[in-house]
Amino acid sequence: MLKLVFRAGISKRAYSAKAVKLTVETYPNLQRGDYGTLEESDLTRFRSILGDSSVFVDDIEGYNEDQMRKYRGQSQVVLKPKTTSQVSEIVKHCNDRKLAICPQGGNTGLVGGSVPVFDEVVVSLSGMSQIRSFDETSGILKVDAGCILESTDQFLAEKGYIFPLDLGAKGSCQIGGNVATNAGGLRLLRYGSLHGSVLGIEAVLPDGTVFDSMHSLRKDNTGYDLKQLFIGSEGTLGIITGVSVLCPARPKAVNVAFLGVESYEAVQDTFSKAKRELSEILSAFEFMDRESQVVNKKFLKAPHPLAEGSDEIPEYPFYILIETSGSNKEHDDAKLEQFLETSMEDGTILDGTVSQDEAQTRTLWAWREGISEASQIEGGVYKYDVSLPLSKLYDLVIAARERLREANLIGETDEYPVVDPVGYGHVGDGNLHLNVCVRRYTKEVEKVLEPFIYEWISQHHGSISAEHGLGFQKKNYVHYSKSDVEIAMMKDLKRHYDPNGILNPYKYI
Ligand code: FAD
Ligand code: MLT
Ligand code: ZN
Repeated sequence: MLKLVFRAGISKRAYSAKAVKLTVETYPNLQRGDYGTLEESDLTRFRSILGDSSVFVDDIEGYNEDQMRKYRGQSQVVLKPKTTSQVSEIVKHCNDRKLAICPQGGNTGLVGGSVPVFDEVVVSLSGMSQIRSFDETSGILKVDAGCILESTDQFLAEKGYIFPLDLGAKGSCQIGGNVATNAGGLRLLRYGSLHGSVLGIEAVLPDGTVFDSMHSLRKDNTGYDLKQLFIGSEGTLGIITGVSVLCPARPKAVNVAFLGVESYEAVQDTFSKAKRELSEILSAFEFMDRESQVVNKKFLKAPHPLAEGSDEIPEYPFYILIETSGSNKEHDDAKLEQFLETSMEDGTILDGTVSQDEAQTRTLWAWREGISEASQIEGGVYKYDVSLPLSKLYDLVIAARERLREANLIGETDEYPVVDPVGYGHVGDGNLHLNVCVRRYTKEVEKVLEPFIYEWISQHHGSISAEHGLGFQKKNYVHYSKSDVEIAMMKDLKRHYDPNGILNPYKYI
């Protein structure tokens, strides 16, 4: 079995030491809003609320730059509150002074939403990381928003439970950030969206009011379900400080199979068959194209899961990762074995390997999760996380590749900005990730891709964001996925709750 070395967190500074361009240099037409400017008296106020050790003005570059090294803001101060009332006092002061705020979790977001654009005050939730309570009978967990996803899941593992979300950035991202982005991740197929599993939220509204809705009720039909507004609001309506979430029992038996197939049609056939034959034990179904394996191998510097002792990547154009989770190992093993045997007999699957223990399961998942970071090893990545009808999912990668070739932007040498587009994603959720791997960020590439990709998605009845959100990147393109009426309602809400527009400006809508 292969051996990879890969961390669940993110290795931000692994690539080029070259400075990230300021967002305002990349987009010179941006105008700073009519906000107050940070003064010494503001710092004095922040220090009186938080204490000197939670107000940072030096060495704060990491809070200004995003994970893709694509966006860079110019904040002068990072605040790390430890309590909800401290968040409330900070926000109230900022609202009175009309100082703009950028809420920040683990800063793993992929749409430029988590970093400032101009000089917004960064409010980092990393100082709020306590588990508040856990009910071992119901599985209801209450946490501070700054709890790291992976640590929270480790806490739950000891109790026989699992967090109903998992994703490659688990070692760095925070529960508050997950909820603020309505992250989907690797097991949405099994556990559904956070809109279903989050039972309650505590958040600080733009005027400093604490919205306390930390409920632990599965059923509550008393009026509008207001917590839903914060799920996926990307820091524009409130700063999430606490989350109550329903956690399922941790499966006792987990299997992962990594497979090679000959076409995208075979990916779809395998998915249909997996739903029918693995049904209740199917917990994830991911696909990857060959191009994604090429960048991944370069990044992980490890043999491919199907390489069998060779240093090559097998010639299959598509790969699949299937996970089963259940309570009876023998039953699950038998079911998976039969599924794989019949699929190989009828030729849908050409090759495969199945994990034999927990370490191998983790290794196979690491191979899939690595693609995100691997896509930017040459310098940068233009990312598109889209929902499309399954039959059209991969056509977008083909269309993007053709368009970049026609524009003569793809090539093997440094004179070409684009290395190659790669496609992979959560087939089980109809969610494609198209990563255009580039040697450098250029306006020319961006103009060829945008709005072309968003128009293509709209024509094929998809969504321009399946999971990463709108952030800075997609704020001008919401109309490709939402009607005028929907956008007007979103703007009304924002104006009503944040009349000064202080929470995460220049993003979302
Ligand atoms: P940040 O990146 O800090 O912030 C994201 C947004 O939420 C920003 O707009 C920010 O202002 C806001 N925000 C953060 N915390 C709060 C808060 N407490 N209150 C209000 N607003 C807040 N996403 C998926 O959906 N599925 C995946 O499978 C997935 N995999 C990933 C894998 C990797 C390797 C990486 C780097 C990213 C991945 N992401 C994925 C993207 C990202 O959305 C998630 O990593 C995560 O949900 C972001 O959490 P965070 O704490 O880092 O938030
Ligand atoms: C993934 O599914 O790997 C994530 O959404 C992250 C990414 O696409 O970069
Ligand atoms: Zn994803």
